[in-house]
Amino acid sequence: MPHRITIFDTTLRDGEQSPGCSMNLEEKVRLARQLDALGVDVIEAGFPMASEDDFRAVHAVAREIRRPVIAALARTTRDDVERAWRAIESAARPRLHTFIATSDLHMQHKLRKTRAEVLDMAVGAVRLAKSFTPDVEFSAEDATRSDIGFLCTVVQKAIEAGATTINIPDTVGYTTPTEFERIIRALRERVEGIGRAVLSVHCHNDLGLAVANSLAAVEAGARQVECTINGIGERAGNASLEELVMALYVRRDILPYTTGVATTEIYKSSQLLSSITGVHVQANKAVVGKNAFAHEAGIHQDGVLKERRTYEIMTPESVGIKTNRLVLGKHSGRHALGRKLADLGYPLSRPDLDRAYARFIEIADQKKEIFDEDLIAIVHDGMRDVPEVFRLKMLQATAGSQKPSTATVILETEGREKVACALGDGPVAAAYTAIDEITGFRGRLLDYSIRAVSRGRDAIGEVSVHVDFNGRSFTGKAASTDVVDASARAYLHAVNKGLGLARALDAAETTSALPRLSEVPDGKEDTVGGPMRVADSEGVIRLIHLV
Ligand code: KIV
Ligand code: ZN
Repeated sequence: MPHRITIFDTTLRDGEQSPGCSMNLEEKVRLARQLDALGVDVIEAGFPMASEDDFRAVHAVAREIRRPVIAALARTTRDDVERAWRAIESAARPRLHTFIATSDLHMQHKLRKTRAEVLDMAVGAVRLAKSFTPDVEFSAEDATRSDIGFLCTVVQKAIEAGATTINIPDTVGYTTPTEFERIIRALRERVEGIGRAVLSVHCHNDLGLAVANSLAAVEAGARQVECTINGIGERAGNASLEELVMALYVRRDILPYTTGVATTEIYKSSQLLSSITGVHVQANKAVVGKNAFAHEAGIHQDGVLKERRTYEIMTPESVGIKTNRLVLGKHSGRHALGRKLADLGYPLSRPDLDRAYARFIEIADQKKEIFDEDLIAIVHDGMRDVPEVFRLKMLQATAGSQKPSTATVILETEGREKVACALGDGPVAAAYTAIDEITGFRGRLLDYSIRAVSRGRDAIGEVSVHVDFNGRSFTGKAASTDVVDASARAYLHAVNKGLGLARALDAAETTSALPRLSEVPDGKEDTVGGPMRVADSEGVIRLIHLV
């Protein structure tokens, strides 16, 4: 009988901590719904003490997502544990997860605590957590660089204090499979009462060994693995959920373990995360990368055509990648599009389908062949998570070897049209300056990336941006066959997110971290050339300020 491995997903906590991967409340809830559909056992929803936003997001996930266990992270202080509990107390299955570092390096230099003090803090936090819920997880941070004797003592005391899951993190991705296996075996042999807790592992990927280390730990007796979608996380990331699950599935002949993950939901989860964060999956990423199932070499193609298994150890369908080409054209109706999208795993509501259909028609006008990847991009493009306070009505830009470039932009806001023209280093910079002139926000572009969603000269380009507005950064994403159009709409997506947050904060009567429009400083660091002239829809040339 294969052992069941608990899949603990920390995309919303450890994953979200990584640069560029921050998500707002709606995005976290949207991803949590997909993690539920994916079948993970535990969703670590966040670190409620980190910020008010984090608290609210954990609380929202705990209230809405009822099947999986919802975990919240806390350090060992009373404040942390109590706040984490308040965030998840409404969950159907709450788990408090408390942690403290146990390596001498961390204890001396980071915590400035003795071993005895750390032991007391660990026990105190587990006891406090236990007074709130029976499901308590304890993590010994930097476990793999900890003295094994001390690690065994802390783990034993944590179990005596009531911890039901003991997590052994390889916090800095330092261990190797054989060493980690030894550590897990030592804990199982030396800790009295270890059988009363589930042994868990949490591996970082600094040496690219996170998945291998996790699998070694499973073979040594660990029964929970902590991981993230697309392997996102601090520095080089965490163990990737899709790699772990598929390794267990594909090699079930030698790894007698099962998970509750619906593997056919893997690709959709990966795409959703990438669409929310704007962080693309590298093409050669195992399981979910664009090339994961592409056979380029003639010999390989020949082999696959004759017998798929010659070069394919798993099918694209097993992870939810549909390989049949779309035969819909610009004359296809809404119904056919709806059916095709449902087939791809996106059963849309009527308003979402209407939006997707409108984009589909626009794209079908510009593009002969529409691939499944294009359709998925269209769906994500249409899933606007924030109200479109500003909407792009028209964009005209010039580009070429003669500098500067120019852009004319018309935005619609509150039923009115606003026009601005600007110069820039290139058409994107010019468009962004024109948008800033109309919105009154000065965005600082932190990151910009573009990729072709499918093949061909007429491929859809998907643009992702990270934009900083007065110290807060927002991601934006959009897809179009015209990359300048996609760039402008991605930027506006970020602007609208910023405005959505400012309005929510205003409604909560807290101080907005965004500037009031009138406080926006002049000048912008990352665009070249100021506004040329600005006119409203009646053609009156003047600078537009919305306050
Ligand atoms: O990497 C780590 O040690 C962690 C713990 C908080 C579990 O993320
Ligand atoms: Zn971690």
